[in-house]
Formats: sequence, structure tokens, C-alpha cells
Amino acid sequence: MSKLRLGINIDHVATVRNARGEGYPDPMRAADMALAAGADGITAHLREDRRHISDADMDALAAITRRRGQPLNFEMAVTPEMEAIALAHLPHAVCLVPERREEVTTEGGLDVVRGHNAIAPVVRRLAEAGIRVSCFIDPDLAQVAAAKSVGAQVVELHTGAWCEAVRHRSPDAPRLLERLKAAAREGVALGLEVHAGHGIDYETVKPIAAIPELMELNIGHFLIGEAIFIGLGPAIHRMRALMDEARSVRAA
Ligand code: PXP
Repeated sequence: MSKLRLGINIDHVATVRNARGEGYPDPMRAADMALAAGADGITAHLREDRRHISDADMDALAAITRRRGQPLNFEMAVTPEMEAIALAHLPHAVCLVPERREEVTTEGGLDVVRGHNAIAPVVRRLAEAGIRVSCFIDPDLAQVAAAKSVGAQVVELHTGAWCEAVRHRSPDAPRLLERLKAAAREGVALGLEVHAGHGIDYETVKPIAAIPELMELNIGHFLIGEAIFIGLGPAIHRMRALMDEARSVRAA
């Protein structure tokens, strides 16, 4: 089974910084440390309300990742403003996400089925600029097919519902994991690269990492929290080790 890439989402380093309006903790330092600790790329979400990552952060992140030759995954809503920023920075990848101002985090996947006509031209323009475009979707077969039809190269499956079910010991958890597996299989069958993310922690990472179709996980909030106690590098090493274990058990 191929090695699973790990993208580190550094949004919440900026959340802590912004809580006091000072220049620290610096998300760029987190990006540097994450890459040094073996992360395969950096993910950041520039929200419309700039609640965590700022425009200046995006400029700096684009420069750092370009200098290090590492991928930057720019999460963005499907808006003309964000499209212009993506086209100005030309990150390695863009992940299109839904965005509602009042939400605490990205609560569900992008509705590509309903948004098809608005999303398709944005995907085309980003792809023409050489950006790998992903749609962050719920693990739903119709959404996977819609992502393919708008021209995305990648789907990122929203793991939040399953992770929450596991944390709350919900009887729904096995069914939600099966949904993720089925969506991953469907994505590969349609020729898409399949990623996953949201809400993943040390407990939930292994069943996700064991899904053989997955190529990349994007993890943020839990690791930034864990970094308070053990440091960002050790937290990433532990997550990486759990991912590798899950893959080698499957391969054995
Ligand atoms: N992937 C996407 C598309 C996201 O929007 C987020 C959250 O911003 C993540 C991954 C990471 O989720 P978490 O911070 O819960 O690990």
C-alpha cells in the first residue's frame, strides 16, 4: 500500500495568536516545525472573516512552502475573492470547502451536486493555472460523482461525523466508517485521488489510515492542541507512527 501523506493544518496556531492580537505564536514557525518533523505539506484555510489565517499569513506560507519545495494546500470557499487570491499565489493545491460565517468549523462537506454550475468554472480556471483542485465533500456517492463531473482531480472526504461518533461512543460509528470506505472506493473507481480529514485524533487515525484508497490525511486542531503538552514535532511524529502502523498492519 502506498505511503499516506500527512498535511498539517496550522489554522489554530493563528487562532491562538489572534486571541491576543500579538504576533505570537507564529503560524510560520509552526509550518517550519511541521515540515521539519516530516509533514508532507501545510494546509491553511483563509476564511472570509479572517478569523484565524490572515492574508499576510497566506503570502508568507506561499513563500515558505515554495522555498522548501513542499506543497501548500489552500482551503478556500468558492468565491471570486478567494479564487483571485489562489490565482495570485498559485499554491500546489486548492481544496474547495463550504463556508458559513456562523459555523465554528467546517461543519459539512461542499454540496457539489447542488453547486455544480457555480463550482465547475472555478475548478476549470484553477486547474488551468496548474493547481490541483480538491472538493471537500461528505462521504456520499452522489457527491463523489459530482466532484468528478466538475473536473476536480481530488476529493477530500469529511471524516468529522465518524470521528464525533467514535468520541461519543455512538452506535452509528461502524455505519459511518463503512460510508467513508465506500466513498473512497468510488473515488478511486472514478479516477480521483482520495484524501480525508477533519476531527482526526490519535484514536481515530488508525481506522482511517487503514483505508487503502486514501493518499493523504489533513489534520489540524487535535495536533495543535496536543502540541501544547508535548510539542508540535513529537505530536506529528506520534500521528505519523500511528498512520504507518495502520498501513503496515493492512499490508501484512
Ligand atoms: N480538511 C479540511 C478540508 C478542513 O476544512 C479541515 C478543518 O479546517 C481539516 C481538514 C482539518 O480538520 P481538523 O482541524 O479537525 O483536524
